[in-house]
Amino acid sequence: MRLVILDDYNLASEWAAKYIRNRIIQFKPSANNFFTLGLPTGSTPYGCYQKLIEYYRCGELSFKFVKTFNMDEYVGLPRAHPESYHSYMWNNFFKYIDIDPANAHILDGNAEDLEAECKSYERKIAEAGGIHLFVGGIGPDGHIAFNEPGSSLVSRTRVKTLAKDTIVANARFFGNDLSKVPTMALTVGVGTVMDAKEVMIVITGAHKAFALYKAIEEGVNHMWTVSAFQQHPHTIFVCDEDATLELRVKTVKYFKGLMHVHNKLVDPVLSVKDK
Ligand code: GLP
Repeated sequence: MRLVILDDYNLASEWAAKYIRNRIIQFKPSANNFFTLGLPTGSTPYGCYQKLIEYYRCGELSFKFVKTFNMDEYVGLPRAHPESYHSYMWNNFFKYIDIDPANAHILDGNAEDLEAECKSYERKIAEAGGIHLFVGGIGPDGHIAFNEPGSSLVSRTRVKTLAKDTIVANARFFGNDLSKVPTMALTVGVGTVMDAKEVMIVITGAHKAFALYKAIEEGVNHMWTVSAFQQHPHTIFVCDEDATLELRVKTVKYFKGLMHVHNKLVDPVLSVKDK
């Protein structure tokens, strides 16, 4: 496991974006060989998406041969609702880059048969050859995607009822009106994310400090589903200083001492326009 600690949210977002950029460029995606990226929504990845848009605009990066799979979507919220994850992804990221809409996959929370929708999502991921890099975010209770506390750590894409903590955390997007927050969602499972070749989880802010502590300093525990990634061979946690507040000084010092190694991962690599 790598833990990359940056001073603040902006630097953490930039580091995560550079990492994604490098992975895509190094993969040399083509019409016969797409790079497959798992993506989150929320306030955390916003800064990272802004940076990726910048890299696309300056010709460093293309998403022409990238397929994306989003982690989750609310059930029953119209697709065009400003808080649907469809709206989030299109308004904050996809509409500014050169991705083919047919390659940007998001679960349909309005599907007639939700279970069939989840099965078909897993099938599409498999048909795409699996996920190369799954980027994730977590809730303050340590859930990844919508894998709420107590979720099976081998779970697959499915319908989930949201925990009260999640409804409260997400109420800020619904005018702080708890009754307007959807209570159910479709989500990839912990097992779905575990199958990715690499996982990068971005955790920022003091309100997620306890979750980061549970994620990396205590054992694997289904009450903190993000802790499952301790058992993934290639997990990178990217966080800001605030998120490290509950970690041991020893842990923080060790990983900060490795920053010169980690930073090599985001050194500029040959970009699309240099080819
Ligand atoms: C929701 C989403 C998660 C997301 C989390 C954190 O619960 N289902 O996928 O990671 O919120 O959101 P934020 O980044 O806004 O804190």
